[in-house]
Amino acid sequence: MEQFAIKGGNPLVGEVEIGGAKNAALAILAAAIMTDETVLIENMPDVRDTNVLIQAMESIGVIVKRLDRHTVKINASNIHDVVIEDDFIKKIRASYYLLGALLGKYKKAEVSLPGGCNIGLRPIDQHIKGFRALGADVRIEHGMIITDAEHLKGSHVYLDVVSVGATINVMMAAAMAEGKTTIENAAKEPHVVDLANFLNSMGADIKGAGTDVIRIRGVSKLHGSEYAIIPDQIEAGTFMFAAAVTKGDVTVKNVIPKHLESISAKLLEIGCEIEESDDAVRVVASKPLGHTHVKTLPYPGFPTDMQPQIAVTLGLSMGTSIVTESIFENRFKYVDELTRMGASIKVEGNTAIIDGVKKYTGASITAPDLRAGAALVIAGLAAEGITVVDDIKFIQRGYEDFHLKLKALGAQIEMVNTEKELQKFKLKVG
Ligand code: EPZ
Repeated sequence: MEQFAIKGGNPLVGEVEIGGAKNAALAILAAAIMTDETVLIENMPDVRDTNVLIQAMESIGVIVKRLDRHTVKINASNIHDVVIEDDFIKKIRASYYLLGALLGKYKKAEVSLPGGCNIGLRPIDQHIKGFRALGADVRIEHGMIITDAEHLKGSHVYLDVVSVGATINVMMAAAMAEGKTTIENAAKEPHVVDLANFLNSMGADIKGAGTDVIRIRGVSKLHGSEYAIIPDQIEAGTFMFAAAVTKGDVTVKNVIPKHLESISAKLLEIGCEIEESDDAVRVVASKPLGHTHVKTLPYPGFPTDMQPQIAVTLGLSMGTSIVTESIFENRFKYVDELTRMGASIKVEGNTAIIDGVKKYTGASITAPDLRAGAALVIAGLAAEGITVVDDIKFIQRGYEDFHLKLKALGAQIEMVNTEKELQKFKLKVG
């Protein structure tokens, strides 16, 4: 029963190094199997989701060597199967990126229907629509998505909703289809661009990633490559809000400030000072924070993956704030837990109305999913007294050494495994 035990009240101060982007890494790992040559990937985050995807790849014969904690070498010349077992998909939704990658390379793939973080309905109709447009047959049988094609043929794909996953899956399959594909209404997230850059480094011909029209000229073969994953926008944003909510002064290093603009803008709006340099952003929260309204949107809008973190911060800001979740309908599950810490939040449909309170008080709470879990930890850092966060396996899906990085910034936080360890922590922090 791993838990985080937190004694709140310390402002976070110092510098924190941001790792590689989990969501880019998942797409890039899957794409790495599309060549028989060896691929070297740097800045790979060592988090549960990427490690499970690596295991899923190994289960079909891909050889993955870890050269150091953040560098992997991948060789997929001996893939013996195109079926990805249910177990992997249950643990991590993004295993379905292997559909697009295997379909592109071998023109066939079988992956069970995905699960993942329970943040709302997560249909895959747009992925299927894209594969079909490329000429693949797609069936759902016995819980599996089975797709195959004699030939994949470039086509025009209009996505009815802006979907990161569908854009990535269709981009991978189209990279090895015959002829030209256009994806319209494509997602523009930094990890979509990172995947396109990676595929191009392997010999693909993809233009327009980062805009809503992506043009792909299929190639028959991809080759080996060496590539470094972009920094994690959401990990960086989480530390930026942790700085704000604890009234701290934190510099997030090894970031791309452009990717953080929507986050920096909101922090500025509520009264933080922001200093940007080439690859770092400093957040200083020296004044009482004010309220704001925010709506989650596809990139470059405010990310849904930052919604719980901003809500936790606004819960301690003066006045009434409104947070609207427009991407996933079930992403307010942390509100009950936060209410137990003293927050005053009312959820109506996809909107949370937040009346800022003076303080949170520590409580025993449970992480309902990855980002909400991280947000509850930062609530604990700002709370009076002790907070114990359960189910931290969710947080470990996407944050590497989260508690160690927070500790280095002055937080009083420990990972505890037993009641005895928890008591020891309580005695230590007094
Ligand atoms: C990606 O999920 C991320 N996951 C999520 O990160 C992130 O919250 C989300 O994009 C939005 O930014 C990965 O990159 C691995 P979508 P994805 O397809 O691809 C609807 C995190 O915490 N939709 O962009 O699953 C869908 O219901 C996470 O790291 C369809 O209707 O999200 C949603 O409303 C969790 N049909 C919207 O589109 C489809 O076929 C956006 O979803 C696909 C999606």
